[in-house]
Amino acid sequence: MKRIAVLTSGGDAPGMNAAIRAATRTAVERGVEVIGVRQGYAGLMHGDFRRLTARDVAGIIELGGTMLESKRCPEFKTPEGRALAIAALHKAEVEGVIVIGGDGSQAGAYALSQEGVAVNGVASTIDNDLYGSEMTIGVDTALNIALEAIDRLRTTAFSHRRLFVVEVMGRHCGYLALTAGLAGGAEVIVTPERDLAPPTVLELLHQAHKRGKRHAIVVVAEGAQTNGAGLLKYLQESGETFFEPRLTILGHVQRGGHPGAFDRLLATRLAARATDLLLRGEVGNLIGLCHGAATPIPLADVVGKIKPLPAELLALAETMQL
Ligand code: ADP
Ligand code: F6P
Repeated sequence: MKRIAVLTSGGDAPGMNAAIRAATRTAVERGVEVIGVRQGYAGLMHGDFRRLTARDVAGIIELGGTMLESKRCPEFKTPEGRALAIAALHKAEVEGVIVIGGDGSQAGAYALSQEGVAVNGVASTIDNDLYGSEMTIGVDTALNIALEAIDRLRTTAFSHRRLFVVEVMGRHCGYLALTAGLAGGAEVIVTPERDLAPPTVLELLHQAHKRGKRHAIVVVAEGAQTNGAGLLKYLQESGETFFEPRLTILGHVQRGGHPGAFDRLLATRLAARATDLLLRGEVGNLIGLCHGAATPIPLADVVGKIKPLPAELLALAETMQL
């Protein structure tokens, strides 16, 4: 291959820049030219390309977000949209593509590969919902941001004998809620996979109070059937006064800021491997973390699959709430 393209797609994640840098430098070292695609699949469809040299990706490893920008692009789900993208790749004489993103983005990469494009994906989303990869780029940083917030909320919860409902991101997957709740010592954790109804949450809080707890933290994933606002409303209207409830929605704060060491290293390892394999002609894979190693997994085995929450963590969450 003489020229490859790199893009970031879907929700941004801390560490995407480190992945762009690693893909670029791996290719440049082999004498391969790199094209950065702006705004994910939208830029791919419209040929919004810029050349990336090793110098262009200097000074970004420590930055959150993505220097290439990211976008959700529904048109890319249509054959017509992808035909535009393939035409733009041909016009720019691009022979291979690296897609850095989450499950939707990797579904797009799979669709491209089915249409004859040489593509490898890099597992990147704060949701950690990509089947086949133990961890994805951005999760660790987002988790630490959520954890810092929970720690801060716990001190004020203690002072005022309050209950804080903390809503974290995760539209379909409760990994962030479960791990932030476990690491932050939450009294109750609600996720789309373990979707406790508000009366059950209230009962658990009641029991916690009877066991002597004088403040509490409930971590709820935004994708739970009753989200943070719904839960607060229920608790307020229940008239139970053993804890005075407050709500904090962490939202996009979790996606911002500097990637931590784990995500910088993970991004560098996954993107370098994805590029190395692309240049060797080993394509159609998601590069994820398996048993601690950067590992290719066929996109065909990843797309459309639901990644379950680790049963061990779910069981621990029950025990640790005592
Ligand atoms: P993430 O990659 O973070 O999960 P999304 O689910 O929003 O984010 O997907 C990002 C983009 O990937 C979508 O806006 C769309 O352009 C593309 N995409 C998602 N699903 C498909 C699909 N089934 N076929 C083709 N492209 C897809
Ligand atoms: O996929 C990552 C994620 O942050 C989800 O946790 C969240 O539901 C979604 O993206 C938010 O999307 P947007 O940035 O488009 O509001």
